[in-house]
Amino acid sequence: MMPGVRGKFRGGRLLLCGAAIAVALHAEAGSRSDQVAEEAAMEAVCGACHTLELVTTRIRSKQAWFGIFEQMLNLGAQGTDKQFAAVGRYILTRLTQVRVNEAPADELALLLDIPGSVAAAIVSYRERQKIVDLEDLRSVPGIDADELASWADRIVF
Ligand code: HEC
Repeated sequence: MMPGVRGKFRGGRLLLCGAAIAVALHAEAGSRSDQVAEEAAMEAVCGACHTLELVTTRIRSKQAWFGIFEQMLNLGAQGTDKQFAAVGRYILTRLTQVRVNEAPADELALLLDIPGSVAAAIVSYRERQKIVDLEDLRSVPGIDADELASWADRIVF
């Protein structure tokens, strides 16, 4: 195969995937994730070469995940745009660090999978005082205690 063609193909795939993640990142606040579809996409796309455990046991920053995505695409990961978007969403909503004092509201909504109104409440809380621990976060109106417990290891203060 001509190396140029292959390079172009990979570049195109990468762009598409970047676009899918960008779409997920700018998803309308309040659109909740579809867990079943996301798990199926994870299995199909990321479970093709190694166990999913390799993917799901570590929380990483958004930037670190983007790097991993790029690496896996270069190794040959394949999927439809829809599957890549679902994989992106799975990783962003469950395995990605959330910088609660810095992330913009739309990113909080996406990463925590919460309505935009609750994300806005977090922003207005931190404008008054820095969020220093989970107890602080619990006092933000609209935060659900069970959800909060499930976020615990992803929150960066
Ligand atoms: C084409 C095969 C293939 C597919 C598909 C694949 N991976 Fe990988 N992945 C690998 C290989 C090979 C390694 C080991 C690479 C290494 O450690 O140098 C790896 C390692 C990893 C690691 C460990 C990296 C580290 O530095 O700790 C993570 C995390 C990971 N993959 C995530 C994913 C995700 C997320 C997907 C789905 C988007 C995926 N992989 C799909 C081949 C694949």
